Amino acid sequence: MNKSPRMIRFKSRVLGVMVVSVAATTLLLLLFGSTLRLPPAPANMSFLRVPLRALNDFQQQQQRQQQQQQHPNAFSSSANAQESCTSGGAQRVEGLPPLYIITPTYPRAEQIPEITRTAQTLLNVANVVWLVSEDAPAPTPALTSYLNESSLNTVYLRAQMPAKYMKAKNKPRGVANRLAGLNWVRANAKEGVLYFADDDNTYDLRIFEQMRWTKKVSMFPVGLVTKLGVSTPIVRLGKVVGFYDGWIANRKFPVDMAGFAVSVPFLLTRPNATMPFTVGYEEDGFIKSLGITSADIEPLAFNCTKIWVWHTQTKKNTAAVPIAQNNITMGTNLDVIKGLLWKDPKGTATTTTKKKETKKKKS
Ligand code: UGA
Ligand code: MN
Repeated sequence: MNKSPRMIRFKSRVLGVMVVSVAATTLLLLLFGSTLRLPPAPANMSFLRVPLRALNDFQQQQQRQQQQQQHPNAFSSSANAQESCTSGGAQRVEGLPPLYIITPTYPRAEQIPEITRTAQTLLNVANVVWLVSEDAPAPTPALTSYLNESSLNTVYLRAQMPAKYMKAKNKPRGVANRLAGLNWVRANAKEGVLYFADDDNTYDLRIFEQMRWTKKVSMFPVGLVTKLGVSTPIVRLGKVVGFYDGWIANRKFPVDMAGFAVSVPFLLTRPNATMPFTVGYEEDGFIKSLGITSADIEPLAFNCTKIWVWHTQTKKNTAAVPIAQNNITMGTNLDVIKGLLWKDPKGTATTTTKKKETKKKKS
């Protein structure tokens, strides 16, 4: 059958239009199909799945704000103290081994932000006993009230670095307070797992679920450690055959403080295990005192192929310059804010800091 060239042109054009419209419809369905099937959102709810508790908190907060606008002189920190600092709550799951997490901390401008970050991570982990052990001459009120308001299962401990180390250039940071945590665990725990979680790290929740089943000592990679970017056991065919770390320094176990967990029943079989006040050798000394061999180490994070902990660290901040007291600031929210700012117990912001700040502004 002969087809005229015009007929062929017409047919191919029709075919072209059909192909384009089918493709466009598929694309539209792919893009918006799932959204179209969603039921309309209630007026007071967003598409984000905000927990109901958080919504209630938000409504209460709005009411408070309205009240404060109507009665601007009624500012008081006690109104703030009523706020719970955590929504959700510590979950308790029957049958799951508990995690005893020891966090050494000390008063400084970054303390509450660091503790907030760590607390909110742990809120997502079941059966946690969080031992917050402070290196300070007296409890820091902002810290103890944060812990009291938290729905986490917390234990506040305090132990200062011995005076003889305080003067040293390189200090054994967090050792005295970790040891206080260790003593608490020895006296109060029978099962589960011990983990040293410094306050300046970032934790992927999956590492907590894996360390929960530690039989003796488990290990895993820690990111952002030394110029190598990671500190990790070297694993071949499921066995630890060495360590990759930027500072081996004759250590038998060259690992980071955040890179290992210990079974509590196993720890209790080692009554003399302790952490030395030797800068750089705290981890090695502690693990050696547990009397294990490389064959005992359980590599986690899928044979140490995942980085699920980072030594993030936080930029150091100086003490806040005091808020000027004048008719612009007084009788406002700044009366409350000034109580939240970090003040160096040895004095407020130095003149050099102020100079630096002005320099920054100019540049
Ligand atoms: C790491 C180890 O965690 C320290 O035990 C060790 O002394 C140090 O390396 C080292 O070998 O030099 P690092 O990350 O360098 O520590 O120090 P920080 O993060 O400042 O301190 C570790 C932990 O101890 C933190 O949780 C911190 O809040 C706490 N800390 C720090 C104290 O409790 N007291 C202090 O004076 C300083
Ligand atoms: Mn650190």
